[in-house]
Amino acid sequence: DGRTSRLGEVDQQKLRTIGIIGAGAMGAGIGQLAALKGYDVVFKELNRELADAGMARVTRLLDDMVAKRRLSKSEYDAALARVQATNNFEDMADCDLVIEAVVEKMDVKRAVFASLAAVLKPHAVIVSNTSALSIGEMAAATSRPDRVAGLHFFNPVHRMDLVEVVRAKDTSDDTVMMLLKLVKTLGKTPIVTSDSPGFLVNRVLFPYIGEAVRMVMEGHSPRELDREIKKFGMPMGPIELVDHVGLDVAWHVAGTLEHVLPESGDVIRFLGNMVARGWMGKKSGRGFYDYIEGKRGDAA
Ligand code: 3HC
Repeated sequence: DGRTSRLGEVDQQKLRTIGIIGAGAMGAGIGQLAALKGYDVVFKELNRELADAGMARVTRLLDDMVAKRRLSKSEYDAALARVQATNNFEDMADCDLVIEAVVEKMDVKRAVFASLAAVLKPHAVIVSNTSALSIGEMAAATSRPDRVAGLHFFNPVHRMDLVEVVRAKDTSDDTVMMLLKLVKTLGKTPIVTSDSPGFLVNRVLFPYIGEAVRMVMEGHSPRELDREIKKFGMPMGPIELVDHVGLDVAWHVAGTLEHVLPESGDVIRFLGNMVARGWMGKKSGRGFYDYIEGKRGDAA
């Protein structure tokens, strides 16, 4: 019917294989979810070693589900059998949708988008999981800006319900519709946002996080601050949240938002100094708190 043909170019029926560039915390979380929901998943990493580490991350997420009796052994085997990892862009050629989840650097993301556009079939859609960077700038690195959008998941992917579908200047209605449908199929709640720095959530979240970091700079204890804000009803305090998402990610997002966050330069520099010391938060064993085997110790 008219509706199906209108959806023709970005046909949901064609969405079988999802590629994911970067198998870090976000990429692995998204890949796990897609495999559980029946999609074939192909990860692309920079080299074989990182590709293997990505597979190990996905396997660990699935292991956790079995341990918590949320998944049977046969569902586990079926999900894992749908996942592959490669270090070669050419192995992405059959993907109908590719989700970019690499480091928050525009030049790296643009290079990924250009490489993908060169190997993918014409119908394929490319999205970025960026926290705050311009989708339009990434789209301009391809010859298919109508089939480019943002698809922003939150950390940890398996617990956070919301997904931002970012509509850039040239994103087509078909692309937006396809992504809305996909997010629902993944069991999450989509919202459409505009392509402005930080989209909706990070634009609102970062002034809150930034003020909390400023209070630590002024000498307040992270532990006390987190404890009090949790009493207010947040699942996690703002400082442990920075450690959880990664100081490197928080620093990049804050930097992208600098011109909409008034007088945030000192906070951004403070985060940048911690990142330069290798204090990335939970994943590196030290951030605002110390972590031993992923468990939080004292405030550093
Ligand atoms: N797949 C599916 N489910 C899994 C799983 C997996 N691999 N591993 C664990 N689970 C399940 C567990 O079984 C458990 O389910 P249950 O509650 O039904 O038993 C649940 O997931 C998680 O259990 P945890 O004990 O680990 O979770 P907590 O209850 O301690 O909550 C938290 C942890 C969800 C992280 C909570 O503290 C929280 O919501 N914190 C705030 C997180 C947040 O705000 N994130 C957004 C950050 S901002 C961002 O990402 C934007 C970026 O752009 C910067």
